[in-house]
Amino acid sequence: MASDNVSVFREGLLAGQVGLVTGGGSGIGLGISELLAALGMHVVIASRKPEHFEAARERIAAAGGAVSSVALDVRDQARVREVVDGVTQQHGRLDLLVNNAAGNFYAPSATLSPNAWKAVVEIDLYGTFHCSQAVYPAMKAQGGGRIVSTSMTLHYRGWPQMAHATAAKAGVDALTRTLAVEWAPERIRVNAIAPGPIPTEGVRKAFTPPAESGIPDRFAVADQQMDAYAQQRIPLGRWGTPRDIANMVAYLASPAGDWITGSIFVIDGGEWLARQ
Ligand code: HXC
Repeated sequence: MASDNVSVFREGLLAGQVGLVTGGGSGIGLGISELLAALGMHVVIASRKPEHFEAARERIAAAGGAVSSVALDVRDQARVREVVDGVTQQHGRLDLLVNNAAGNFYAPSATLSPNAWKAVVEIDLYGTFHCSQAVYPAMKAQGGGRIVSTSMTLHYRGWPQMAHATAAKAGVDALTRTLAVEWAPERIRVNAIAPGPIPTEGVRKAFTPPAESGIPDRFAVADQQMDAYAQQRIPLGRWGTPRDIANMVAYLASPAGDWITGSIFVIDGGEWLARQ
């Protein structure tokens, strides 16, 4: 049973903190933004699409959360710095960066265009670095902070037609470990989360592999078969939810995360270990 509506965290756990969530207006990012705000953090949603971040801001504000939003493409390093500087000037601090923004699609490596490669690597890997580098001065000045980046599990073995994304996420893993060690003296904890299959609307749209590819489609099964599919393919017997992922981010942002850095948390119901 999923536990979407149950918070295991105490009320006000993250009160007084300020967090920036890239891609925080939809899918997993929205789940993260909602939980952090529900726990008292002021959440700044940074995303490319106004239709995503405006709707998310209204929804979180209506639920009583402290939230603001800003337009950001994480590929634009100058804009990343401008946004981060704006947040720290307005709030006087920045406690948490969640590098959640990602862009992926299935495409054969043999014909992947240079621009297609670049688009995904720039969002997933360069974007993570740009944002992490941009928050460093503020986190250092305030005596510490937390960075949580979004990885995946598809690169643990290999996932055809996703060379761009798997390469980028392997880079995110490396970056996580390196920055964790390099920035530990500044008390900046750097960790990553690796979500398993979470059938959000955006993911289901983006990840229906071409029928002729022979790649197993983890999402595009008929809705009435979703439960049966999960029971068969995911050891813990159900699909993941944004809340499953958000819980780990909240944990890492809390004092429980004080001694955790350089870790990559797989949150997938055991899916990758059992993958055929
Ligand atoms: C082949 C493609 C393509 C596709 C885009 N391109 N989609 N090539 N197959 N399906 C190529 C384009 O032709 C172009 O190359 C280049 O990529 C850039 O495309 P643009 O559309 O101009 O880029 P942009 O508007 O910046 O869009 C970025 C994007 C897009 C990554 C391409 O898909 C995006 O914004 N996605 C965000 C949402 C998303 O993907 N979410 C999923 C995250 S979930 P040319 O050569 O023509 O110029 C997740 C979980 C993974 O990551 C789970 C896996 C199962």
